[in-house]
Amino acid sequence: MQKRKKLYEGKAKILWATDDPNLLIQEFKDSLTAFDGVKKSSMGGKGSINCEITSALFKMLESKGIDTHFVKKIAPSEQVVRHLKMIQLEVIVRNYVAGSLKKRTGLPEGKEIERPIVEFYFKSDELHDPLLAFDHIFMMGFVSMAEYNYLRKAALKINEILGNFFSECGLKLVDFKLEFGRHGTDIVLGDEITPDTCRLWDEKTGEKLDKDVFRFDLGDVESVYKEVMRRVTEISV
Ligand code: TMP
Ligand code: ASP
Repeated sequence: MQKRKKLYEGKAKILWATDDPNLLIQEFKDSLTAFDGVKKSSMGGKGSINCEITSALFKMLESKGIDTHFVKKIAPSEQVVRHLKMIQLEVIVRNYVAGSLKKRTGLPEGKEIERPIVEFYFKSDELHDPLLAFDHIFMMGFVSMAEYNYLRKAALKINEILGNFFSECGLKLVDFKLEFGRHGTDIVLGDEITPDTCRLWDEKTGEKLDKDVFRFDLGDVESVYKEVMRRVTEISV
């Protein structure tokens, strides 16, 4: 499959058109950014590490009945995905307090959240991805009430499957971000699931094995991402 026109370039990925209007190539870049691109770096091999991780996770989710955009991995940092019309929302699920939830609430980092929570953010770089209150989501016209309910249910189901999977890898799934898109009338999981978009803590030591290592200069980012890749690919089929 050949890459044709560049359709979109974000901080971490490029989407390319192909000769099939229903399929795109999603390419993972080596760039590392945080805090809305304020902190920038790059890491050789990061694109291929994240592509390997997200391909394995999407394949695993598909095998558990989740409808995703993933078709196949075709190169170290490239995968073929279904062409979705993305919904401009970031759906975040949280199992433990960390990051912006800690800032917003003052609750201690690592506190378990009894019933996992789902939050919706407006995906907008200019506005810095603001958190949306329930009514804002409909005011903005992003989704219908039925679609909202579907997204919430899908996000919680994905949380359950991913949480169990990461637990087998010895990792605690603290929180993560999902993006969905439309394929006809269906809503399908798109984007990526990687250490860029999840918080993962070692179950035994509590060590952070995700982008927080880059955000807050906690250690060697490359070895952390490689460790997640090793654990994920060891368990997945
Ligand atoms: P937060 O605590 O900063 O709101 O982040 C929650 C989770 O969402 C964390 O696992 C990182 C992920 N995330 C993204 O993937 N992209 C983003 O732009 C942000 C802000 C968070
Ligand atoms: N995803 C955002 C960025 O890459 C924010 C973050 O992850 O800290 O800039």
